Amino acid sequence: MSASVTVRVPAKVNVQLAVGAARPDGFHDLANVFLAVGLYDEVTVTPSPDGLRVTCDGPDAGQVPLDRTNLAARAAEALAARYGRTPDVHLHIAKDIPVAGGMAGGSADGAAALLACDALWGTHASREELLDICAELGSDVPFSLVGGAALGTGRGEKLRPLDVGGVFHWVFAMAERGLSTPAVFREFDRLGEGTDIPEPVASQPLLDALAKGDPDALAAAVSNDLQPAALSLFPELAGTLAAGRAAGALTALVSGSGPTTAFLARDPESAVKVAETLRSSGTCRAVRTASGPAQGATVLSAQNRH
Ligand code: C5P
Repeated sequence: MSASVTVRVPAKVNVQLAVGAARPDGFHDLANVFLAVGLYDEVTVTPSPDGLRVTCDGPDAGQVPLDRTNLAARAAEALAARYGRTPDVHLHIAKDIPVAGGMAGGSADGAAALLACDALWGTHASREELLDICAELGSDVPFSLVGGAALGTGRGEKLRPLDVGGVFHWVFAMAERGLSTPAVFREFDRLGEGTDIPEPVASQPLLDALAKGDPDALAAAVSNDLQPAALSLFPELAGTLAAGRAAGALTALVSGSGPTTAFLARDPESAVKVAETLRSSGTCRAVRTASGPAQGATVLSAQNRH
């Protein structure tokens, strides 16, 4: 029996986030084009005789809830409930993905914990079953499991994998504070009051740009319907976007519900230049480079007890 399993899981950026009107259940239908990028959390799961507990380390660890609201804890509980066992595990999160940043950091930990518990407990849940549990945990969790690039419809949980014909080089600027996803969606609703909000549809030029691996075409096609709402709640982000554009980024946008801002660069050298300029711009807390697509949640190691 394995005594510990570690799963690595990537962050995401939304290269298109088309948002429809609020549904009766409060969620919004989306056309959400996810791209997984190489900023990773690692979740290690070990048996814990004292019951479920969560610990976390990393630069933003202080902002991560360690109680049952943590998506990693909820994932362990959901899998245990399905298989009629107790979730008696210690989940340790080595956190590198920004917290409350619009990069699916919490969702990533949920997907990673699910895969790790499945391996530790030998439950051998099918891919479909894992994806079902992910969708129950949150709209972005299925994509964290799958990785690569995908079009998410419904509330973002129904995935169609997408072809990507090359590597895209990104720079991410972390903001001084977080933004709550529900608050950004509420602001989207407020800003759209009295207007006709069209059905969200994926952009064909954007899908073609991804398939070709063409950064200039992708830069021309990216869009994020949540960006005005994020900027309305966090106006300083406009300065970060402008600083990245001035530094030579092909395009600049808010990542998902923000407040992390994402900058597409033509090549790795240009990404380093944009990152350096942003770092000294005084418009953000930290800057990272990462490329995508990145692999979804992956078991790194399973150490066996003999
Ligand atoms: O699905 P998840 O729990 O990650 O969503 C967090 C919040 O984001 C929801 O409670 C809802 O307010 C908002 N949301 C939405 N429409 C979506 C996804 C999320 O309104 N498609």
